[in-house]
Amino acid sequence: MIENRKEEHIRIAETENVTTDHNYWDDVEIIHQAVPEVDFDSIDTSVKFLDHKIAHPMIISSMTGGTDLAKKINYNLSTVAEKFSIPMGVGSMRAAVEKKELADTFSVILQSKVPVRIANIGAPQLVKQGKPAFTDRDIEYVMGLIEADYLIVHFNFLQEMVQPEGDRNAVGILRRLKEIAGSYPVIAKETGNGISHEAALALKDAGVRAIDVGGLGGTSFAAIEYYRAQKSGDLEKMNSGKSFWNWGIPSPASIKYSHVGIPVIGSGGLRNGLDLAKAIIMGADAGGFARMLLKSADSSAQDIEATVLQIIRDLKIAMFLTGSSSIAKLKKARHFIREPLRSWVDAYGR
Ligand SMILES: Cc1cc2nc3c(=O)[nH]c(=O)nc-3n(C[C@H](O)[C@H](O)[C@H](O)COP(=O)(O)O)c2cc1C
Repeated sequence: MIENRKEEHIRIAETENVTTDHNYWDDVEIIHQAVPEVDFDSIDTSVKFLDHKIAHPMIISSMTGGTDLAKKINYNLSTVAEKFSIPMGVGSMRAAVEKKELADTFSVILQSKVPVRIANIGAPQLVKQGKPAFTDRDIEYVMGLIEADYLIVHFNFLQEMVQPEGDRNAVGILRRLKEIAGSYPVIAKETGNGISHEAALALKDAGVRAIDVGGLGGTSFAAIEYYRAQKSGDLEKMNSGKSFWNWGIPSPASIKYSHVGIPVIGSGGLRNGLDLAKAIIMGADAGGFARMLLKSADSSAQDIEATVLQIIRDLKIAMFLTGSSSIAKLKKARHFIREPLRSWVDAYGR
């Protein structure tokens, strides 16, 4: 059951250690500027995100939907997206395609004025698995359900491999993606294992408008599925979850690899506004936060508000201390990269 699985994902992500062993944002060092020549109160964090102007270079990453708890979380997140004028994604909408009575767990976000709404489907659903692939009507349905501005297609093949009920077929996805990207503005996203340069080129060729790297360094779905397998006594999946716990391309390196001439969202392991500043310095146009916002989303909108306020404040402090009055200036802030991230960045000669 998708609903149970989604609920389990939330609970495990909130209560267990589900992060990778190393957070690669720690390997990016920014050079402090003691003479910044900037007025903190005039710092401008606004950016253009595809066709929209947003107040801050941050996105509430796709997480949930399909259960009562998810509905509450989506509602709380949407009020914060409205308050701070930032884009918001909902979680995979497969549940609503399969069970129309779950629609309101996603469409609840329409109660707030979210400036940019992002629908979400999984790449595995673009081709036939045990079940038929999503049709054009299914895609039209999910877009309409939240009056979406963009459609995220998430690539999560490691998760599919380590979860008991995972989809195994990836043949034909790019061809179908190209068709869909011809009709809707698509953002391609990973879910914690990053995008390689080859993948970025293939996705651009398929016509996606932006790439969300969803890299290694934060939430590990191999870890989440490890706990689920442990609960059900599935030793084989438990072992795979453990082996692949730290698999993937570190988020900051993946931002570099994904520079193929379309906007890049840096995500995977962002913990605070300083990490967000590092994502921008590494070349991202905006940063995406998932699990950091989940805990507070489950309790109250005020808690998420406080978290987002702190993120924005710390981003502005990093801008101040690098003498950056705008995000365009922050992109040029002096920095250096330590190991092990450095080898990852050098691997593509960039
Ligand atoms: C509970 C949970 C559910 C998620 N569900 C989805 C999903 O349905 N679709 C998606 O694209 N990503 C999903 N993600 C992945 C996040 O959007 C993000 O890519 C990943 O968690 C890495 O970011 P983080 O380290 O900030 O958590 C989910 C993450 C969490 C923690």
